[in-house]
Amino acid sequence: MYYPEELVEEVRERNDIVDVIGGYVRLKRSGANYIGLCPFHNEKSPSFSVSGTKQMYYCFGCGAGGNVFTFLMEYENYSFVEALKALADRAGIQLPEREYSDEARRQADRKSRLLEVNKEAGRYYYYQLKSDRGAAAWQYLAGRGLTDKTIAHFGLGYAGKSGNELYQYLKGKGYPDELLMQSGLIATDEKRGAFDKFWNRVMFPIMDVNNRVIGFGGRVMGDGMPKYLNSPETMIFDKSRNLYGLNFAKQKSRDYILLCEGYMDVIALHQAGFTNAVASLGTAFTGLQASLLSRYVKEVYLTYDSDEAGIRAALRAIPILREAGLTAKVINMKPYKDPDEFIKALGAEEFGKRIQEATGSFYFEIDVLKEQFNMEDPEEKTRFFNEVAKKLLVFTEELERNNYIEAVAKRYQVGFDQLRRLVNRYGAMQSVGGLLDREARKENRKKDKAAEGILTSQKLLLTWLAEDNGLFERIRGILGPKDFTEGFFREMAEMVFGQYESGGRVQPAGLISRFENKEEQVQAAEMFSARLDEELSDAGKEKALLETVYRIKKNSLDIERRRAAEAGDGQALQKIIIEQANLQKLHISLKNG
Ligand code: UTP
Ligand code: MN
Repeated sequence: MYYPEELVEEVRERNDIVDVIGGYVRLKRSGANYIGLCPFHNEKSPSFSVSGTKQMYYCFGCGAGGNVFTFLMEYENYSFVEALKALADRAGIQLPEREYSDEARRQADRKSRLLEVNKEAGRYYYYQLKSDRGAAAWQYLAGRGLTDKTIAHFGLGYAGKSGNELYQYLKGKGYPDELLMQSGLIATDEKRGAFDKFWNRVMFPIMDVNNRVIGFGGRVMGDGMPKYLNSPETMIFDKSRNLYGLNFAKQKSRDYILLCEGYMDVIALHQAGFTNAVASLGTAFTGLQASLLSRYVKEVYLTYDSDEAGIRAALRAIPILREAGLTAKVINMKPYKDPDEFIKALGAEEFGKRIQEATGSFYFEIDVLKEQFNMEDPEEKTRFFNEVAKKLLVFTEELERNNYIEAVAKRYQVGFDQLRRLVNRYGAMQSVGGLLDREARKENRKKDKAAEGILTSQKLLLTWLAEDNGLFERIRGILGPKDFTEGFFREMAEMVFGQYESGGRVQPAGLISRFENKEEQVQAAEMFSARLDEELSDAGKEKALLETVYRIKKNSLDIERRRAAEAGDGQALQKIIIEQANLQKLHISLKNG
């Protein structure tokens, strides 16, 4: 971090979170907290809560949460430093100028240096595109219908022909070779030494949701191979967790996202006014990307290419989206290949109509299936309906399943009862087959539940410790940070106990800003926002606390014991067994007392 912690804390304390968020969201008092409609996902009843005492917000609907810095980072797409500056301004605090000395550079961590390199490279490419040397590249983009405004908005650029000009440029800025190699923008071999990875290509900077350049795609201007070259995965570029265009698309609460295949598709759609379009990064769509999207919307419209490969990609993406709790629809772009070409040919209005006419993902799957059968042939037709019946089993709710059976029967002209009988028959077969592995699944579920329960307990205790610092004295000698078993929980526990030990007070919102990365801030906020399902009386709360402490300790001792047993450490084992017995006794006496 560039700024000292005390300064960051001062800025945070001088900006009351209720005031700041109140400027964006209509908040209503509710008990000790304020609640409102979450600005980060669509909802009708408020699950977004802001706590004045903890100086934190948390959404019980979508899991967004953090302190006043996180809020601005999330809402305004600010980086941490930008949020800090905005809030310092708001409170009239003067921030010292950031120092760019070599020393400061060396101290900054590797990730932010890689981000710097990418940002510099993006600037360089953009500058090249605007210079005379980039004339052909500019013409290429203009020829594809992009306006100057669009080119600037997406920060498109040009990588020149000389072979190592980016390397020379970045070298001149003082970046060491090692860092440049790690950025994936520069490579080296024995003959040439260091050279640029991208050569004579139009460049598409890829940004994360905070508008930071994390990698590049580069396109040949014409028919060369490969058509697109992408930055390799680096410490800051994870292709499975980012989406092209999401930095723009995420901005306001959206009803849905348009998911397409290519960079050019995203750009053409945004230019045509569809600023909710995103694309994956030259790799197949992943579950991580789906859950990223589920933070902003409930529905995704697939706008994949209309060719065979696009259809296959859509069929793969649909269950992934479903798994993340998103509904999917599929847009038909025929007779054009992709949204870029569609819009160029028919315009935005026609594309809007195609959005209206999009097919529900289930019908899309069935339509594709139908292509494989000759519906004129009675036998094939029967086989088709058998396949459809099997597919209908994905709807486990009876009412929903019946609705689909009815709709499918109508759409494909088959009797409702006939289709339902088929579905029930396959349903019965599935349950017989499922009986065998059902036991195994039950076992697994039990294990998952137990693991989840322990994490919930750890989260509860962290929340309570933050709310009532008096608890530290009560659990002293019984429980410490090392009893928190999972990595991030342990890290938070160490910070919480550390803060208490050094100052006698825990300020969760202050701990959150020790993380510059927003995802980590959200996770940290979650640690302090656990709540029980029911309102408890004071006696009930006390009991819940004792139970929670007991469960955490028991779990940590169980783990230690297993470890000692595996290592064959008899002495340690002996000690743990005694501790376990003591804990058991303590538990019984607490229960009765
Ligand atoms: P497409 O081949 O569909 O290209 O690739 P496109 O988006 O229509 O591109 P234009 O219109 O010809 O310029 C879709 C996406 O797949 C990845 C890129 O992310 C591209 O945007 N891709 C494609 C590659 O990574 N490498 C390639 O060689 C081709
Ligand atoms: Mn295209």
